[in-house]
Amino acid sequence: MLKPNKLANNNFLSSLDLSTDEVLHILEVANNFKNKKINIDLNNKVLGLIFDKSSTRTRVSFQVAMTRLGGTTIDLNPTTSQIGRGEPIKDTARVLSRYCDVIAIRTFDHSDLEEYAKWSTKPVINALTDLEHPCQALADYLTIHEEFIDFKDVILTFVGDGNNVANSLILCGALLGVEVRIACPKGYEPNSMVIKKAYEIYKNKDLLKITNDPITAVQGANVLYTDVWSSMGEENKKEKKDKDFFGFTIDHNLVRKAEKDAIILHCLPAYRAKEITDEVIESKRSRIFEQAENRLHAQQALLACML
Ligand code: CP
Ligand code: NVA
Repeated sequence: MLKPNKLANNNFLSSLDLSTDEVLHILEVANNFKNKKINIDLNNKVLGLIFDKSSTRTRVSFQVAMTRLGGTTIDLNPTTSQIGRGEPIKDTARVLSRYCDVIAIRTFDHSDLEEYAKWSTKPVINALTDLEHPCQALADYLTIHEEFIDFKDVILTFVGDGNNVANSLILCGALLGVEVRIACPKGYEPNSMVIKKAYEIYKNKDLLKITNDPITAVQGANVLYTDVWSSMGEENKKEKKDKDFFGFTIDHNLVRKAEKDAIILHCLPAYRAKEITDEVIESKRSRIFEQAENRLHAQQALLACML
């Protein structure tokens, strides 16, 4: 039976907190959990969930993952705890470190997550910030691995906003040697530090391309991926972004320009007829619901390797 190895870093704040070998190991452990080949008992360890933004998949998959591992979760709703009243992060982090064994945080500023991790004596997991969504990327590459055995043969094209999801896909893709192309409107490119760090990791600099042309970006692609145009916290930008992203919808015409075996991914929730059509979500090529399921297996593996 495969034994999960302990990760070198205490925290998982960014995709770059893992090495290439660690990502591959987590994917292997996740696959073992999915196929019921391993059983781990975390002996009632407690995962605290601090979510400043809404969540279905991340929250529920962490709760189920912890239950299956013989642990438990506490939902720390910021509006009913003192967190929402403005208690300093450094105080909350030191107090919760005395109750919980690990904390997953979904918030806006990535620097708030880093501040929490600085004061926490227990491992901290990024459950999404404005900068990154590294747990999502683990499930995404697990889904891709199930279809295409060798990451080096994969071209992943992300069509849409250069947001948190795109940033983590780039960083984790760089670790795995996947060719990643981002097609976004001008002004919506991924974070420049993320791009810089990814180029430092890629041995072949041609494997990361940022373009404003979705049509050429999908040619030869095996994976087409998109996410909402307006992320949580950008509600006031919706009208402008809907206009700026005209031509960036993954529809049947765009899918036809990719490889014949191309699969379609979306982290969900999706806005049909905006970033993706209903027809494509429901098509044979879609692996969107397998991808959502894989959040559970990937996070179960992550927790088993962290605790
Ligand atoms: N993909 C994802 O993180 O979904 P939730 O916002 O529902 O957690
Ligand atoms: N980019 C999206 C992802 C949601 C899972 C957001 O941040 O709202």
